Amino acid sequence: MGSLVLSSFLAILISLHFSRTSAQTAAPGPAPSGPTDITAILKKAGQYTTLIRLLKSTQLDDQINNALNKENQGITILAPTDKAFSNLKAGTMNSLTEQQKFQLLQFHVIPSFLSVLQFQTLSNPVRTEAGGSNREFPLNVTTSGSQVNITTGLTDATLANTVYTDNTQLAVYQVDQVLRPLGIFRPSAPPAAPAPSKSKKKADSPAEAPSGTSEETSVKSSGTLLVNFGVALLAATLLSVS
Ligand SMILES: *[C@@H]1O[C@H](CO)[C@@H](O)[C@H](O)[C@H]1NC(C)=O
Ligand SMILES: *[C@@H]1O[C@H](CO)[C@@H](O)[C@H](O)[C@H]1NC(C)=O
Repeated sequence: MGSLVLSSFLAILISLHFSRTSAQTAAPGPAPSGPTDITAILKKAGQYTTLIRLLKSTQLDDQINNALNKENQGITILAPTDKAFSNLKAGTMNSLTEQQKFQLLQFHVIPSFLSVLQFQTLSNPVRTEAGGSNREFPLNVTTSGSQVNITTGLTDATLANTVYTDNTQLAVYQVDQVLRPLGIFRPSAPPAAPAPSKSKKKADSPAEAPSGTSEETSVKSSGTLLVNFGVALLAATLLSVS
């Protein structure tokens, strides 16, 4: 009887001990515990319901959370407010394909941590998650002290507020405009263009770009040829040995 009481007392002690330690490891520091969740951060900040909805529908929220929590990558987000989205020309967002919405959001994500002052150290154009050629997704930054201006060639914006920063890995800044990349919002040829033949010519000129790509492919295929040749040589050697 006595030993039963003793052993249950021990069991309680042990379970107390374990729940204590596990609580300790689960809550490092005073900051809200658990993995960083970009949508939770934006939700708490208010005025980002459109951005949150888009992050979820494109699942970019998962990618950002994974990069932060699993890959330990630094990330800076330029977060357009609800007002910024409502200032777009009516129907703009609805006219985009899912792919374009995804790229538009990626364009607002810089794959490194940047404090306000670190924007000074960037060289233009700044690489965003939208990547692509700089002609399609250029994001340029000019700074003066802690003032940071951003231009895409179509949108001029200023970093308004720091929404969130953990000072090492994630920074979220408010922008009052949706940053429109040329690759998605390039204006169609101005209707007042005098000579249609001229604008035709202009439209043809990007044909130079694909030639660059085909060069790349030919380099690649000659690489494959080399590999094939190497394999053939190896096979020949093996055959002659056996
Ligand atoms: C940023 O933009 C504002 C408003 O357009 C302008 O007055 C300011 O000079 C710009 N600052 C920099 C550093 O480009
Ligand atoms: C961005 O900066 C690059 C390099 O300075 C420049 O070539 C390009 O024209 C700029 N683009 C815009 C939209 O300001």
